[in-house]
Amino acid sequence: MKALIILGSPRRGGNTETVLEVMAEVLQGSGCQVARVCLNETEMRGCQGCMYCKKVSDHCCQKDGMTEIYDLIQSSDLVIMGTPVYLYDVSGQFKLFVDRCFAFWERSYQGRIKPGKTAVLVVVLGQDNLQLGHGVADKYTDLFRNFGFSRVEPLVLPGVNARGTMQKSPDRLNAARDLITKLLSSGNEQAKLIEG
Ligand SMILES: Cc1cc2nc3c(=O)[nH]c(=O)nc-3n(C[C@H](O)[C@H](O)[C@H](O)COP(=O)(O)O)c2cc1C
Repeated sequence: MKALIILGSPRRGGNTETVLEVMAEVLQGSGCQVARVCLNETEMRGCQGCMYCKKVSDHCCQKDGMTEIYDLIQSSDLVIMGTPVYLYDVSGQFKLFVDRCFAFWERSYQGRIKPGKTAVLVVVLGQDNLQLGHGVADKYTDLFRNFGFSRVEPLVLPGVNARGTMQKSPDRLNAARDLITKLLSSGNEQAKLIEG
C-alpha cells in the first residue's frame, strides 16, 4: 500500500508535522510505503483561473512543484493531509494547494481522482474550540470527497499552540494512531472481501 503525507504547516517539527509523523510511523510499521511533501518547501504558484484544466485538458497547464503532487496523489492509496488553522481557515500554503486541486474537477464538478482512495484531513488549532476546528475540517472534507476520494476522514485536534505541545499530548497522538489503525484494518477487510 502506498501512502502520501502532505504537510500544510510552514513550521517544521511543529504540531501538525508531529501528528503526521506519528501516523507515518504506524503506516511504515505495517509495511506501507510512505512519501512526504512539505507544501511550504514546494515551488508552486496559485491557480491562474485560466480554465485550461476544464476546456483543453484534464491537467493543469502550469508545470511546477504541484505537477509531481498530482501524480503522487493519483498513485497513492491513502493521502494524509495536515494543516494548522490560520485565522479561522487552513494555512495559506494549504489553500494554495487546494486551489490547484481545481484540476481534479471535471467541468461538471465530477471528481477526477481515481476511485478507491482514502484521504485523512488533520486540522490542528491553538484555540480549545472543537466547533471552529470542525467548521474548517468539514468544508475541506466535503471538497476532497467531491474531488473523488472514496472516503475522507477528518481529525480535529484543538488546544495545541506552542511548538512541542503535540509531543506532550498522548491523547491526541493516540487518536491519530487509532485512526490509521482503523483505516488499515478496514482496508484489510475490504481486500479480504475482494479476494473472496
Ligand atoms: C498566522 C496564524 C494564525 C493563526 N490563527 C489561528 C486561529 O484562527 N485559530 C486558532 O485556534 N489558532 C490559530 N493559530 C494557531 C495555530 O493553529 C496553532 O499554533 C497550531 O498548533 C500551529 O501548528 P504548527 O505547529 O503545525 O504550525 C494561528 C497561528 C498562526 C501562526
